[in-house]
Amino acid sequence: GETVTVQELAEKLKKTAAEVIKKLLGLGTLATINQEVDYDTATLIAGEFGIETELKVAVDKEAIIMAEPEDDLDQMITRPPVVTIMGHVDHGKTSLLDAIREANVTAGEAGGITQHIGAYQIEHNGKKITFVDTPGHAAFTAMRARGAQITDIAILVVAADDGVMPQTVEAINHAKAANVPIIVAINKMDKPAANPDKVKQELTQHELVVEDWGGDVIAVPVSAKARIGLENLLEMILLVAEVHELKANPDRPARGTVVEAELDKGRGPVATVLVQNGTLHIGDTIVVGHVMGRVRAMIDDKGRRVKKALPCTPVEILGLSDVPEAGDILVAVEDEKLARDVAEKRQQRKKEEALKSNNKISLDDLFKHI
Ligand code: GTP
Ligand code: MG
Repeated sequence: GETVTVQELAEKLKKTAAEVIKKLLGLGTLATINQEVDYDTATLIAGEFGIETELKVAVDKEAIIMAEPEDDLDQMITRPPVVTIMGHVDHGKTSLLDAIREANVTAGEAGGITQHIGAYQIEHNGKKITFVDTPGHAAFTAMRARGAQITDIAILVVAADDGVMPQTVEAINHAKAANVPIIVAINKMDKPAANPDKVKQELTQHELVVEDWGGDVIAVPVSAKARIGLENLLEMILLVAEVHELKANPDRPARGTVVEAELDKGRGPVATVLVQNGTLHIGDTIVVGHVMGRVRAMIDDKGRRVKKALPCTPVEILGLSDVPEAGDILVAVEDEKLARDVAEKRQQRKKEEALKSNNKISLDDLFKHI
């Protein structure tokens, strides 16, 4: 029949594991936290606590691993902002990211291997900023659909010679829907045709009124090509970050989001993960979407092997049993069996869904041929 671990039972009854173990001892059973107890015993224990309601042993293991622990305010530290660059095609998102990164490569790193991973961290005036390269709006939408919220600040890149375009509007809507503050980077200011006033005018049509026009939207003129205004942009990012008082707790199991993942020929499944809260350590048992694993190695955005990743640090991780998807949420789980159960359940669900959509396609095909 169904069983439940002492830990799960405790969660279900809103008691500590120690309290449950004590009750079990009272019933003559010496149990550990990971021990399985059967339905009858679980019901008995619930009764011991005076809990009348019928106990459903099929605990929601997924809910247990996904539950956000309440953070102790004393343990919270200021964390770097996570910044996403958005905007219309060819307005210079990648160029701007590259320019910022190059301008902030310290002497020690120069000449070293700079990995291209989907996210990187820089330091400006002693403060860190994490940048995430969104591979396009589709990926951003997919991430949001999965409930992954990774961005604290959105940089909206608008080319000064082109102005607000359809994907600019899309980006504005995404940022607004996600309730993320927007900083406008008016790019390509080096071009003779640059017309920042026209950009500002067009932005007002989308309820973005820049500061020098009496609004509250920060707009920074920049040129990724001529390396103009980059310092100013970084200053503004740090300013907005400070206002939002971004905090994280490094003393809890890690939680993060997959930015990108692939199957590497030599290294097996590799995922670039942005750790958002807690600290990820080598050896941690993790569940990433439908994939389970144990962190075997971590590589930072400068290609260095690291032993741990603090909040808002992007790292590549090795040691997964399969390739997860961008937008999947990573959680470090102490109970390995619990991790395995959840991953297996998700794999099962994924298979069932794939089967369902396959059936649908074949049905459609069938009708097409009639
Ligand atoms: P997608 O990823 O395709 O959406 O484009 P993107 O927004 O990443 O633009 P990207 O950085 O690839 O730049 C597009 C083109 O604009 C390239 O030819 C760049 O060299 C050029 N470009 C980007 N920034 C500037 C700039 O500040 N000034 C000038 N003159 N050209 C720029
Ligand atoms: Mg690009």
